[in-house]
Amino acid sequence: MSHNEQTVYLNGQYLPINQAQVSVLDRGFLFGDGVYEVIPVFANKPFRLHEHLLRLDDSLNGIRLASPFDHKGWKALFTSLIEKSGGGNLSIYLQVTRGVTDKRDHALPKEPQPTVFVMCSPMPASAPPEEQKGACAITLEDNRWHACNVKAITLLANILLRQKAVDKGCAEAILLRDGMVTEGAASNLFAVIDSKLVTPPKSNHVLPGITRDLIIELANANGLPCEERTISAVELRQASEVWVTSSTREILPIIKLDEQQIGTGKPGPLWLKMQMLYQNYKQLLKQTQ
Ligand code: PDD
Repeated sequence: MSHNEQTVYLNGQYLPINQAQVSVLDRGFLFGDGVYEVIPVFANKPFRLHEHLLRLDDSLNGIRLASPFDHKGWKALFTSLIEKSGGGNLSIYLQVTRGVTDKRDHALPKEPQPTVFVMCSPMPASAPPEEQKGACAITLEDNRWHACNVKAITLLANILLRQKAVDKGCAEAILLRDGMVTEGAASNLFAVIDSKLVTPPKSNHVLPGITRDLIIELANANGLPCEERTISAVELRQASEVWVTSSTREILPIIKLDEQQIGTGKPGPLWLKMQMLYQNYKQLLKQTQ
């Protein structure tokens, strides 16, 4: 499928991507006034769909915008678009903005007509082998706003932070607020400290990651101790393993942080175990759906 043939959904229509257009008065364009989701699809099936839709509801509530569809409506839309996109392994990107108004005004419109955009992009069935060997990361001060639990399209801080990592040839920026780890620029964080898996607790400084929740669920179901607690920058540097997690990167082992080796400098034993549990879970889901 060439890029121009890609079909996307925009405000009730399925269109070739190069014909999908939004107004310059859309509040998403003018203010970054909207929310989004990224949902992996394996063998035509959206992964942890219910959890993603619940988070979307929370994000929409967080910005005071009513959901344009109920869960059944979203599911029907995704099924059509997955089919039109040729199925297989994909990632769904969906965005809801507060729509178009007749003039630029910070105050919210009384009767918003949300803009709904959904596209499917090809995604590998699992992370590429070179990523599974481990990656490097840097730490940076978390300079984002105080509503990081909302999956807002307003991502300027995140992209500038990520770019600083990219400039140094690194895969991710790990963010610190008052000396404590929050998350990655586009991922959540886990560390292995004293043989125990730990991850920062959910708060307004952390996106409640769907991958994060699944890792905690798998750890609990398989007798791996996992604690949700704050992690200091000092503890992070001394951890035997560090991972960053997201729907698109799954579980990425970090083997070098700020030029210093983490643990043995290779993906650790707990990562290997969790990687196996995670891939098995995906496989099992494919068979049962
Ligand atoms: N981002 N934290 C931030 C700031 C993120 O942007 C993401 C994912 C995560 C991980 O969440 P999940 O496990 O639900 O993917 C945590 C997506 C993938 C993106 O912006 O493309």
